[in-house]
Amino acid sequence: MAVVKLNPQTVPGIKKMIGVLSGKGGSGKTFVATNLALMLAKQGYRVGLFDADLSSSDTFHMMGITTRLTPSKDNKLSPAEKYGVKVMAMAGLCGKPDEPVMWRGPISSKITQQLIRETIWGELDLLIIDFPTGTPDHAISILQQFLLDGIVMVTQPQQLAALDTQRAINMVTMLDIPIMGLVENMRGEIFGEGGARQLTERNNLTLLGSIPLRKSIATMCDKGTAAVFNSDELQMIFTKIARSLVETFVVE
Ligand SMILES: Nc1ncnc2c1ncn2[C@@H]1O[C@H](COP(=O)(O)OP(=O)(O)OP(=O)(O)O)[C@@H](O)[C@H]1O
Ligand SMILES: [Mg+2]
Repeated sequence: MAVVKLNPQTVPGIKKMIGVLSGKGGSGKTFVATNLALMLAKQGYRVGLFDADLSSSDTFHMMGITTRLTPSKDNKLSPAEKYGVKVMAMAGLCGKPDEPVMWRGPISSKITQQLIRETIWGELDLLIIDFPTGTPDHAISILQQFLLDGIVMVTQPQQLAALDTQRAINMVTMLDIPIMGLVENMRGEIFGEGGARQLTERNNLTLLGSIPLRKSIATMCDKGTAAVFNSDELQMIFTKIARSLVETFVVE
């Protein structure tokens, strides 16, 4: 299948853009994206986090952000900020956190692009983009319109997830965007392990890290507690993931 890559653009002031993507819903993209952003900020980088999931915008909740974002007179938006990470998400723009967002594809795409371009990010070393599941119009438009420097692919260990992830890997490869590696999430008794290793071998990719399935992780996400700062195990895993990304980029 031919895939069109439309003259993708950079965003002034942002050095590198990284997408966090997966082929499967609920595999932990938002958990990985938020904790990666937190870890990179802790390591001293200027980090932004854009929540590209318009209808299930979860980053604010996972980071314990309750700020409501309102545009300035000239229609510019300042992001929320927590632990040094600048965060822009629909959750901050809706009147109430449980307000549904039901936009048709062209509107979602237009608004997503505007939000990425017109948010007052300031100077950023890295903008992490938390992708929605699947291939809604606005997600494809980010992949086609913005010059992404790399994708972090999240997968669960079970075979079904591996199949979905393989599709996502194929899509990103067709779009000619580098895949920086795979993060296996929810390893353990329930979903097993090893699926990510097979994918890395088959696709010649790096396994950036493997995160266990833990009740404590789910609880921290629910409570909006920064998981990576409250678990030595996660701190170690995300330090390693963050380092390998930065080493690939050589962000000064
Ligand atoms: N390693 C883990 N251990 C336990 N729970 C986890 C783990 N990773 C994520 N979760 C929980 O699983 C749920 C799904 O995670 P998350 O929202 O990050 O997935 P997602 O891929 O972003 O989902 P969506 O497809 O809706 O965007 C969340 O409730 C989160 O708290
Ligand atoms: Mg999500």
